[in-house]
Amino acid sequence: MCGIVGYTGHRDAAPLLLEGLQRLEYRGYDSAGLALVGGNRDGLVVRKLAGRVAGLVGQVAGEPVVGNTGIAHTRWATHGAPTQGNAHPHVDCDRRIALVHNGIIENADVLRAALEQAGHRLTTETDTETLAHLIEDAKADSLEERVIAALEHVDGTYGLAVVSADEPGKIVVARRGSPVLLGIGNGELFVASDASAILEHTRSVVYLNDGDIAVLTPTGYHIVDSESHVQVRAVDDVAWDLEAIELGGYPHFMLKEICEQPETVRSTLRGRLLFEQGCARLNGLNLAPQALAEIRRIVIVACGTSWHAGLVGRHIIEALARLPVVVEYASEYRYRPQLGLPGTLTLAISQSGETADTLEAMRAARAAGSRVLGIVNVVGSTIAREAEGGIYLHAGPEIGVASTKAFTSQIVALTLLALLLGRQRGLSLEVGQDLACRLAQLPGLVDRTLALEPQVKAIAQEFADARNFLYLGRGVSFPVALEGALKLKEISYIHAEGYPAAEMKHGPIALIDADMPAVFVAPRDDVYQKVVSNMQEVKARGGRIVAVTTEGNGELRGVVDYQLQVPATAPLLSAILTAIPLQLLAYHIAVLRGCDVDRPRNLAKSVTVE
Ligand code: AGP
Repeated sequence: MCGIVGYTGHRDAAPLLLEGLQRLEYRGYDSAGLALVGGNRDGLVVRKLAGRVAGLVGQVAGEPVVGNTGIAHTRWATHGAPTQGNAHPHVDCDRRIALVHNGIIENADVLRAALEQAGHRLTTETDTETLAHLIEDAKADSLEERVIAALEHVDGTYGLAVVSADEPGKIVVARRGSPVLLGIGNGELFVASDASAILEHTRSVVYLNDGDIAVLTPTGYHIVDSESHVQVRAVDDVAWDLEAIELGGYPHFMLKEICEQPETVRSTLRGRLLFEQGCARLNGLNLAPQALAEIRRIVIVACGTSWHAGLVGRHIIEALARLPVVVEYASEYRYRPQLGLPGTLTLAISQSGETADTLEAMRAARAAGSRVLGIVNVVGSTIAREAEGGIYLHAGPEIGVASTKAFTSQIVALTLLALLLGRQRGLSLEVGQDLACRLAQLPGLVDRTLALEPQVKAIAQEFADARNFLYLGRGVSFPVALEGALKLKEISYIHAEGYPAAEMKHGPIALIDADMPAVFVAPRDDVYQKVVSNMQEVKARGGRIVAVTTEGNGELRGVVDYQLQVPATAPLLSAILTAIPLQLLAYHIAVLRGCDVDRPRNLAKSVTVE
């Protein structure tokens, strides 16, 4: 879950690498480093430190490094504490080879023992360092042949880039399990974990597949497999522009992305609503109507916020299409025996499209004979490329580690799928047309919901010192409660739990007192009255209540301490609106607590390791 970037060409590499690292910092930010070849010294120059990329920029400014070829890394530690020593790049005994890596070497301990046995001196606690010494140990001529030979011994995942003082100008890149792409410039080439690092210089990218080894020199590149057979990969064009990955005047990407939701919901809907037919058009599914009709059950696999969206999707698909849906934690599902039941459709939901657990759960389902579709935001990501078809969110790049706009767009995408499946399974034209209209109204309703921000900010003031929170809801609002709790945990480090409101009396109610704020997600739907009773139970025990409910609901005065009223919409769609005040509440509490909202501790945007 690190970020790697590389450059070879005619320009000074250091500033390009540092700028690329800054754009990749949302992938990991506990230490950083770079290595340059062929500069003013014969050999390799390495600079690295514990801490943010900004520190590395300062270090390089103090001690400039020159060279036209280099690699760089921003880290999310898996093996070895985030220290200067464990920061990447890692080098071999003679400091002739430098390497940056994203992924986990699972047999590193065995490799380390063998290398030390062979006389290598390994100085760090990382799994990655073994790779540099394996390459040094490999008996072959060219750097790429040595990399191929070294990787034969490796179990695990990697996206890596290697340079050698003996072959200035060359970068060797390899991929298995972790995303890497090449950027094709004019007389120059880039390597990056994702396109945001190089978008300033080129939109032409080549996504590497698992098993690919790419060899880059200033004059060109080629790709081979582990048998050195040449591989041909398409050159794609990145759709979004630089502005999409800039703050655009906002203090944080999270707030920018929360405020983008009227537009991102509109983008997810664009061209997909068939009002006349009361249906949805989802060309990317690549499934013929017959194949859609053969679906008997749906298994959703996902992690984190995407898993919460899956839970909301279950309600909507079961209600509209009368198909049974199970929502699985991908990390658990991938290791469970696959039942291989006929008529199973597996939906992999992932903003980044690179989450290792979701990818492997999708692969396991496919191996067991299931059809697999992806609901993904990042175009060209691994899940998107490996799924048989799917739905792109078109929500634009999500930089803030805490996912926000992807959540609401995921629910919109799931609703479109439910509408399509439902209309095929007896859902009436009227209901379909009504839902299509309600969906089309959403961007305006989201805009009105964002106007609650000043009220949310005031409530955040009240609770910024809280140590615990309980989020409660029923039906489609239960996953929203889970999501609200996750947002608060992620960025403010306050312990928070989401719970089905009715479950509270089976235990968590013991936690209720004046110091335990309870946030109820309570739109006026068919379980609303039940939720009000749960509020009474909290009130009776001195708990303080914040309620997210529907506009015009005057009933809660005297029951709750604070209420945030979102516009009315179809009950099945309420989650798209009720989630937004919870995103804002977490955001403002975190800001008041002085937390680094976009780079919350211990987290990273895309979890590409197990
Ligand atoms: C959400 O705010 C977190 N960043 C995290 O839980 C995330 O949702 C999870 O890692 C799944 O990511 P994905 O959607 O990119 O697969």
